[in-house]
Amino acid sequence: MLERKMDTVILSTPRFDLMTPVREEDFDQITKIKSNPLVSSTQLYGTITSRGKCRSMFHHYIDDAYSKRRKRWVFGIYTTERFQKFTGIQTYIGNVGLERDSPASTRGSLFFEVDPEFWGLGIASECLARVIAFAWEKEFSYLMVDPMVGNEASIRVAKHNGFRDTGRKIVAYNGVLQHLFELKAPK
Ligand SMILES: CC(C)(COP(=O)(O)OP(=O)(O)OC[C@H]1O[C@@H](n2cnc3c(N)ncnc32)[C@H](O)[C@@H]1OP(=O)(O)O)[C@@H](O)C(=O)NCCC(=O)NCCS
Repeated sequence: MLERKMDTVILSTPRFDLMTPVREEDFDQITKIKSNPLVSSTQLYGTITSRGKCRSMFHHYIDDAYSKRRKRWVFGIYTTERFQKFTGIQTYIGNVGLERDSPASTRGSLFFEVDPEFWGLGIASECLARVIAFAWEKEFSYLMVDPMVGNEASIRVAKHNGFRDTGRKIVAYNGVLQHLFELKAPK
């Protein structure tokens, strides 16, 4: 039988380790975060009505790492030991994802979510910065963040990381209006 090779990537920020793929033991925490209406109301996947819906997203997060021509990296955000000592928090607290528009494209988009218990601590901004650097290492040329119109926290996170408002809005597959922000790779 052919053994599938897993592509594990671990990145570090001052307070966090970012790891893809996420771990099986993170499933409950991922479900908890995605099921929180504060989170799901600003995400295209919408209200979580069953653990099965989360399971399917979760499986994809892991399957990505087995792909021969990897198109997507969903990094779990984990507290580092130092941060754990100060806060007592030792768990998966959110994710940052990076996805190519197509397997051969150098253009892509970023998405992120953080457990509402930890909002406003600069977590998404810090982790996004590291994943953007990873995207440049992977020779992306152009990145997009596409929050729902009015998602001010997400817009702040994008702007903290140098994204520019394109002024463009598009309608997503489920009818939701998204506001497009862009960032070009440094020359
Ligand atoms: C968007 C999200 C990831 C931000 O996570 P976070 O770790 O709290 O982000 P940060 O602390 O790095 O930055 C949040 C910024 O938004 C600001 N903010 C938060 N709520 C806000 C609001 N309702 N209106 C305006 N600004 C707001 C914060 O003050 C902060 O800005 P500042 O650093 O200039 O003060 C988090 O709110 C979340 O998970 N939301 C639900 C999922 C989501 O919307 N994902 C984005 C999809 S593209």
